[in-house]
Amino acid sequence: MAEITSTQSKHFLSDKVEHFTESVIREMTRQAMLYNAVNLAQGFPDFPAPVEIKQAAQEAVAADVNQYAITWGAKNLRNAIARQMGVWQGISVDPEKDITVCCGSTEAMISTLLAVCNTGDEVVIFEPFYENYGPDSVLSGAKPKFVKLRPPTEAPGEWTFDEKELRKAFHRHTKAIILNTPNNPTGKVFTRAELELIRDLCLEFDVLAITDEIYEHILYDCTEHISMASLDGMRDRTVTINGMSKTYSVTGWRVGWAVAPEKITNAIRKVHDFLTVGAPAPLQEAGAAALSLPPEYYTKLAEGYRTRRDRLVPALATAGFRCFQPRGAYYVMTDISAFGFADDVAFTKHLIKEVGVAAVPGSSFYRDPRDGARQVRFAFCKKPETLDEAARRLSKLTFRKA
Ligand SMILES: Cc1ncc(COP(=O)(O)O)c(C=O)c1O
Repeated sequence: MAEITSTQSKHFLSDKVEHFTESVIREMTRQAMLYNAVNLAQGFPDFPAPVEIKQAAQEAVAADVNQYAITWGAKNLRNAIARQMGVWQGISVDPEKDITVCCGSTEAMISTLLAVCNTGDEVVIFEPFYENYGPDSVLSGAKPKFVKLRPPTEAPGEWTFDEKELRKAFHRHTKAIILNTPNNPTGKVFTRAELELIRDLCLEFDVLAITDEIYEHILYDCTEHISMASLDGMRDRTVTINGMSKTYSVTGWRVGWAVAPEKITNAIRKVHDFLTVGAPAPLQEAGAAALSLPPEYYTKLAEGYRTRRDRLVPALATAGFRCFQPRGAYYVMTDISAFGFADDVAFTKHLIKEVGVAAVPGSSFYRDPRDGARQVRFAFCKKPETLDEAARRLSKLTFRKA
């Protein structure tokens, strides 16, 4: 049989995929499995999901909710999302017209970008950024325009951005800004003043805000989550993206949603329908049950993550990492300068193979890998014993001369 050579097969590929690589985060999970390392790379919990929602999923399957749901989402789930957005953020949402339920917030984001972007549009993204946003922009034909979030110079401190740099990123080709608060990978929770500044730029330059609020309930140190859509003037120009993965510890269920004004929702629904038809029907019913959990559930969730943060961060600091204290989400970004490795990738490989702990190289969160060459991200959505085992292994980490 004739062999297909790389030059022959190249013309089968889209130019778009040339512009990005496979997910580094998911690659780190594969490496962790290969070397039996404690996986603090990918952000999935290693503890059970709430009993109530697992039961709701089982009941839905048993009741034969096993065929396609309405393409833009099961009515029960959309009603629950609309109700909770009112309760949590005071945002009024029409469940019939404003919501598209997708296969995770990942699909909600790409469906939104495909629905709103034309070739040549620009999308402003803060960096370091959740790695999907770069490829998402490329796939939708838009050009990402990155604005730096800078780490605190002293502890404790916050990641900040320069107002002038942000303003410079906005101009007549800017279609949207992607905002992620609470933020992965930095743990930053954007303040009201910062959001108002972004709001003012969106209004001045007629720009859409696409906000990924998937860590909405994971907050520490009395920080408050503010939805961009709740700010004056933003309801009609915001797409709010959220999902079940993080709040209910079910990253494998693939249920997320986009909430937007009717016209934008109609466009998102069209893209979503042809991309995936719909999210898993029984799990959407379980989603409605999840969104009906009492307020104590969310208090406990945040408190559980605070204790995990306060278990891992001191262990990392003792091992020699400089930690940027997260205020939300379940990651800690660290500075690895003290270890004297050539870069973050060399360090992460050493960490997986020789120490037995997997983390994500900082460069995967930046357009220019050099910007993240001194950073590594750890996820702490793990059982106490997993974090303790990681701490035990990290204590063996030794310093190297540069
Ligand atoms: C900021 C952010 N958005 C989206 C996702 C993916 O969410 P989902 O499982 O709903 O697709 C993640 C997962 O790590 C994330 O960190």
